Amino acid sequence: MKKLLVLTVMMMMLLTTAAFGLSVVGSKHDLRITGGGTPTAGISEVCVVCHTPHQASTSAGQTPLWNKGLSGQATYSVYSSPTLNAVPTELGGATLGTAQVSNLCLSCHDGTVSVLSMANLPNSGGTNTATTVAGHILASGQIDPASTANIGTSLTNDHPINFTYDATLASADGGLVTPASAAYVDAGKKVPLFTGTVQCASCHDVHDNVNPPFLVMANTASALCTTCHVK
Ligand code: HEC
Ligand code: HEC
Ligand code: HEC
Ligand code: HEC
Repeated sequence: MKKLLVLTVMMMMLLTTAAFGLSVVGSKHDLRITGGGTPTAGISEVCVVCHTPHQASTSAGQTPLWNKGLSGQATYSVYSSPTLNAVPTELGGATLGTAQVSNLCLSCHDGTVSVLSMANLPNSGGTNTATTVAGHILASGQIDPASTANIGTSLTNDHPINFTYDATLASADGGLVTPASAAYVDAGKKVPLFTGTVQCASCHDVHDNVNPPFLVMANTASALCTTCHVK
């Protein structure tokens, strides 16, 4: 009986650890001073740098309850190559309400916007006193160009994004898995598509750094790549 109790407690502890691992809390996307991200002073909430329960960015709204403005970058350009079949759409000049999910990432990761700029400040609209004290963040709050996290304002040297990935593309390319649906590439629902398109969040889970850097699944033996590519 005692053994069973010890076992149960151990199991519960393991489960708690696992649940912790799945959270944005304590990850590089936790921008509180106590979090795993770049330490900042004057901010005690985790979700708030990206989401707000009320009065999201504009009256038109930006899902999912987005709490930031977008980057003002007018042009990112798109990846191109002689063998590319996909037709990526330019992400620059996006407006709130119609932005793609990748524009949300770029609103910090292109390095032009402060990671701490918020539409609706924490503590019932109280003053945002957040100041950066360390890490790969410039005094302006922008991600330092020297950090690998700053992917810059050109997408020409990045894996293509913002294009439709469907059965037609798979057959045109000849080396792609046919997506299981317009919502997921794989039947296991690990690699999501956004209304049938590939976006940053197809490969990255912004809330979960169990597979660094925030990958949607482990990339051991390039398992992430081979979920889509037959190579
Ligand atoms: C660094 C920015 C960032 C932080 C911090 C963050 N999120 Fe998100 N969240 C996003 C982005 C980007 C998306 C859209 C991409 C996606 O759905 O994968 C999203 C999507 C969501 C969604 C809708 C899609 C889904 O997965 O259900 C919910 C709900 C959500 N976040 C809740 C939270 C909560 C709760 C917290 C705090 C505990 C949090 N987020 C912290 C960036 C963030
Ligand atoms: C969500 C599915 C998905 C994942 C995951 C993925 N890719 Fe892709 N990738 C694509 C699609 C679709 C294209 C467009 C192919 C085309 O049109 O020729 C592409 C394009 C490419 C290209 C450019 C092909 C060309 O003709 O110029 C390369 C190289 C590539 N991927 C490598 C990778 C690598 C390496 C990984 C893992 C780190 C990876 N991909 C992960 C779907 C994916
Ligand atoms: C609120 C600003 C913000 C948003 C929005 C955001 N990130 Fe981040 N992200 C950061 C910061 C800050 C870091 C840590 C930078 C550092 O330590 O150099 C980071 C780190 C990362 C890393 C790890 C980089 C590394 O070198 O370890 C990845 C990958 C990443 N983010 C992807 C994404 C993706 C994909 C999205 C959208 C789905 C997103 N982020 C949205 C601010 C943001
Ligand atoms: C096709 C899959 C895929 C897409 C789409 C994708 N990434 Fe990544 N990303 C990866 C993988 C895999 C790594 C890890 C690379 C490594 O460790 O060698 C990575 C690494 C990163 C890093 C860490 C720095 C680095 O260069 O290693 C950041 C930041 C990042 N991605 C942000 C983004 C953002 C922002 C977008 C959208 C504009 C995006 N990613 C789109 C697969 C992808």
